[in-house]
This record gives sequence, C-alpha cells and structure tokens, in this order.
Amino acid sequence: MTRPDPVRVTELPAWKALAVHSREIERRSLRSLFAEDPDRAWRLSAEGGGLFLDYSKNLITKDILDLLVELARQCHLTDHIETMFRGEHINRTENRAVLHVALRMPRDRTLVVDGTDVVREVHAVLDRMEDFSRRVRDGTFRGATGKPVRNVVNIGIGGSDLGPVMAYEALRSFSDRSRTFRFVSNIDGTDFVEATRDLDPEETLFIVSSKTFTTLETMTNARTAREWLLARLESPDAVKHHFVAVSTNADEVRKFGIDTGNMFGFWDWVGGRYSMDSAIGLSTMIAIGPENFREMLAGFHAMDEHFRITPLEANLPALMGLLVVWYTNFLGAQTVAVLPYDQYLKRFPAYLQQLTMESNGKHVRIDGSPVDTTTGPIYWGEPGTNGQHSFYQLIHQGTRLIPIDFIGFARPRTPLGPHHDILMANLFAQGEALAFGKTADEVRSSGVPEFQVPHRTFEGNRPSNTILAETLSPRTLGALVALYEHSVFTQGIVWGIDSFDQWGVELGKVMAVRIIEELSGKKTDGPPHDTSTSALIRRYRTMREGGEEKGRG
Ligand code: F6P
Repeated sequence: MTRPDPVRVTELPAWKALAVHSREIERRSLRSLFAEDPDRAWRLSAEGGGLFLDYSKNLITKDILDLLVELARQCHLTDHIETMFRGEHINRTENRAVLHVALRMPRDRTLVVDGTDVVREVHAVLDRMEDFSRRVRDGTFRGATGKPVRNVVNIGIGGSDLGPVMAYEALRSFSDRSRTFRFVSNIDGTDFVEATRDLDPEETLFIVSSKTFTTLETMTNARTAREWLLARLESPDAVKHHFVAVSTNADEVRKFGIDTGNMFGFWDWVGGRYSMDSAIGLSTMIAIGPENFREMLAGFHAMDEHFRITPLEANLPALMGLLVVWYTNFLGAQTVAVLPYDQYLKRFPAYLQQLTMESNGKHVRIDGSPVDTTTGPIYWGEPGTNGQHSFYQLIHQGTRLIPIDFIGFARPRTPLGPHHDILMANLFAQGEALAFGKTADEVRSSGVPEFQVPHRTFEGNRPSNTILAETLSPRTLGALVALYEHSVFTQGIVWGIDSFDQWGVELGKVMAVRIIEELSGKKTDGPPHDTSTSALIRRYRTMREGGEEKGRG
C-alpha cells in the first residue's frame, strides 16, 4: 500500500462543521467551559511516553474535540502513520522513505525497507558510535601527540547542529563535566573563532556533521578547522587523529581527507531535522555516555509506539497537532509559543523552529496543487520565567491569539533551595491567568482608580497546553522531541503537504553562491540583479574597501 492521496481537507464534512463551531466558540469563555464541566481538567488530559498533557485550557468544546478527531480520521491519519512506519516513500518529492522512527527501534525488531533490514544497520552504527564514545571518554582515543581528547567541537548546521546543541544543553546535567563541548554552525567567522580561541588543538576533536557533506557553511568551517589544526600541529596524522565525520556521503568525506574508517554513517531516509538520534548525535553520546544515549532512544521509541497504537482521542502528538490545526485554520492564530520552564531547555524552541517550520512551511500540497488553507505556524519561545518579563504582556493583553505549550518538570536536575517551586508556581500561574483573566469587576473590587480599570483588566481565554514530566532525563527528552515530530506529522497530513522536503531553502543558497563570486571580484558578467540588490552590493564593496584602506594606515 502506498501513501493514500491527500484529500481536499476544506471539502471534508468535519472541516465544514469545525468552521461553524469556530464562530460559536467566540461566544464562549474558558471560565464558562470549566464552570459547566467539573471534570474538564481530567477529561481533557492524556498521558504517553512518560509525558502528561493537560489540554483542558484550550478553546474547545467536546464537540470541537470530537470533530478534530473526526477530521484526522477523514484525512486517514492512522493509515498514514502505518505507511510511515512501514518505510514507504512518503517523502514523495524526494522519493524517499521517512524512517526516523527506525533510528530508535530496539535491537530485536526487524524492519525491511527496499530489501534491507534497517534496524540491523541502525544498531551496527550505534555500536560503532558506542565503541568510539567510550574510547574518547576513557581517554584511550588520543590525539596526534598522544594527549586524550578534552574538547569536542561539532561542526554542522541546521539539523546537523540544532539537535546536537539542544540535546547537549538539555542533558548537561548528565554530561561529562571534565570535557568541553562546542558547536560551530554559522558561516560568520566569529562562530569558529570564539568556539576555538581557548582550545588546545592537541586535545581537540572535530566532528564534521553533514548529511550531504556539501553544505557551504559546514564545509567552509570544516576547512577552517583543518587549517587551524594543521597550523598548530605539524603532525602529518593530525587530521586522522582529530577529525571524524558523520555523513551519508562517503565520497565527499574521503575527498575532504577524513578516513572513512572514522566516518559514522546514516541514510537518506533520515531527514536533517529528524537526525539528532542518528549518528548526528555522536557529540551527544560522547557528552552523556552511551547508556544515557540509549535511554534517550528508548524515550523516543516509547512516544513512537504511543503515536502508532493509541486511539486518536488519547494520542498526545495527534491531539497536539490537531489543536495547532484548530488555532491556525479556524481561529486565525499565526504562531505557537513554546515556553519551557527549565533552563536546560533553552535551545529547545530554536530546535523546534527547524523541525516545525522547515517541515510544514509549504505552499503546495504533496501533488503540487496549491494549498487552500494556511499551513505551518511560526514557532517561537524562550525559557520561563525570562519571557514573563519580556513578551508575556502581549500574550496577556495584546490583540493576537497565541496558543502556548508550557513545559515543566516535577523534579529539578539542580535542586537549589526554593527555586524549583517558585519556577513551577510561575508556570501554573501563567496558564491560569491567561485562561481565566481578571474581569473589570474583579479589578474594581480591589479598589483601583477607575481610569486604570480597563488597563488592568485581563480578558482571559488565552489558550495553553501544559506538558509535565517527572524530570528532564534523556528518556524524557527523547519522548518530548518525538511528541513534536509526530505533532508536525499530524499537521502535515491534515494539510496534505510533504512535511519531509525543504525545497524552500534552495533558491537563497544558489543566489548566495553567485553573489560570493561577485563579491570576490571573480565574476562580474552574470545577469543583472534588481536595482536594490545591485546597489547594496556596490555599497558593501565600497565600504569594505574603505575599511581596508583605513586599516592599512
Ligand atoms: O537548511 C537546509 C538543510 O538541508 C537542512 O534541512 C539540513 O538540516 C541542513 O541544511 C544541513 O544539511 P547537511 O546536514 O547536509 O549539511
């Protein structure tokens, strides 16, 4: 069976019924919905993969929820899930399977795709990663001058950076504190210079992470790293002892000068933004150790199984994805805020931006026809409580609807006096204040001057999900990431788009290559730019020359 054809979602009965309900919900309030149903908090919550989701503070009624689930059925969500897990080529525009779920299947599972047991291949790479990580961690892997590795620098960008850096930050409390981990992604030379300025090359290992091994930023940074190393270590074996590669492209790895014996592979069925649990996670494994890395994979897998087998009514990723559809398509929300109340998750919103927006920022459906709905919302966020003293004002009293995902943990990784209860009290208070607000009468009764009443009134009705887990462990992190991966999948199925390609990043890349040649003066005879771009290039070159002249004096 191949992926079912996308349905025209706006023509489905459930979609039409939801449109009617969207007009009705505007007349309801979360205050009245909670007052009418004492069991609401209990009814509108679910658990899976070690995560608890309270979605009762959403602008939905039972009918709306039933219709959202019905919409998923009418879009054949369950068939699509099966199709992905079977390894069909559901990434149609690139004719590829989408099998990040295979990266975390237990060793005793079998999944034959295009004639190969991919689970066996996955575990063979994991075993090599484990062996290498152990040797780095116990000091038996040594640099060219015989010193053990103290610094690990991951060079990558997009999915080859955001996952590793997010996971390192999230699981720092599990990491080997005697080692330094750095992440270089930006082509801006500052990134490399600042990441390496205090590192001893004799103790530094570079992991060049790139699925294609052709990405301009990564390859430029990797070449700079090679020069940096060779300028400091004269050993002919320096690259062999200080560089490893994570890639699907052995030819390019070889051309760069890294022995393919020092290469950790993965497969074209792992999308960049779905790759943090593949060999792209090598820096994570070195940081937290193989056992913890496997725990993280177990967390991913638990959420995968939950998504695959749980009825849609209690299925966390499906519910979260459907709520995004509800706000995006029926209530006009443009964004989703992800607000983790955990400092270790400070890079989680940035990680989610690639996962969600590179996946679902699409303007045509999988068959190439234009979409007739709004697609992927903008994801953004900051850890609590910092955001409260910055942008929460707009969420509480602005004119936009911003659905929120709060994320919190019962037990902190770093207990410190009263901090954690204060942190969590803030999370709970924000959800409550946003949902229920403060009426003008309540404001008045607290005795404030009349002219201030409208300013101090909170309409409420601002929706949120709350995701709670016991503690931020490797297992929890895996489950959390998989939760969002599958929520993105659910949204993509409803919209009928290909969530697994990323053609939208190509045009800018091609144009940059042309302009690089123009800036270096290598090429001046190409087709003209628009007048704005031409003038900017001219001005930049003049300013740059001026700067150089001043510097020469
Ligand atoms: O930005 C486009 C993109 O292809 C991402 O999808 C990917 O994660 C990133 O570039 C890096 O690609 P690579 O791992 O091939 O260097």
